[in-house]
Amino acid sequence: MASHRVVSATANPHKLDEIREILGATVVVLGRPADLAEVEEDASTLEGNAELKVAAVVAASGEPALADDTGLEVDALRGAPGVRSARYGGPEADDEKNYNKLLGELRELGANAPEQRRARFRTVVILGWPDGRRLVGRGVVEGTIATTPRGDRGFGYDPVFIPDEGDGRTFGEMWPEEKHSLSHRGRALRELADQLAALGPVEEA
Ligand code: IMP
Repeated sequence: MASHRVVSATANPHKLDEIREILGATVVVLGRPADLAEVEEDASTLEGNAELKVAAVVAASGEPALADDTGLEVDALRGAPGVRSARYGGPEADDEKNYNKLLGELRELGANAPEQRRARFRTVVILGWPDGRRLVGRGVVEGTIATTPRGDRGFGYDPVFIPDEGDGRTFGEMWPEEKHSLSHRGRALRELADQLAALGPVEEA
């Protein structure tokens, strides 16, 4: 049976790997066009940012495009970093700076007990076609923020996020399949894949 072909809007190679691992063979995910200018993600919601990315890639490629936007919401920080997760540690921040800023803020607040460190990852994925059709998948995973980073797998805030449904390890300590079975991105993409399957088989080109 033919597969769906979509162009990825993400410039993050870790995210692209995860998207491919989760969707498997039913969707062929092509890399983001190298000559596409960076999209300014200045919407106030995850869905708004995902749509900005989808629209830019659809316009540039003329092909269906897939975009993921993710935020980490920490209750003690009133939902921050949220939609600002990528640049939390400053305009040039890397993953380590981002999570160290988060750990420092929780320390300053004296939020040391697990119940004071409640958090969740939230992902919105949008698959968009040039004719304007859209499918939207959403995924959430609840957890707590660790007091020190643990594990070198995954990316982003993974070393400091302990999912409730796991065994106490951070996402950074889990193998990819373990993370995907619980993660925000796994849930959002599986929801999207179900919607795609409900549209019926892919027409042969
Ligand atoms: P964006 O969706 O690419 O804008 O990502 C927002 C921020 O969340 C970035 O700092 C990413 O590194 C981080 N992030 C996105 N997905 C994940 C994940 O699955 N685990 C940990 N951090 C993530």
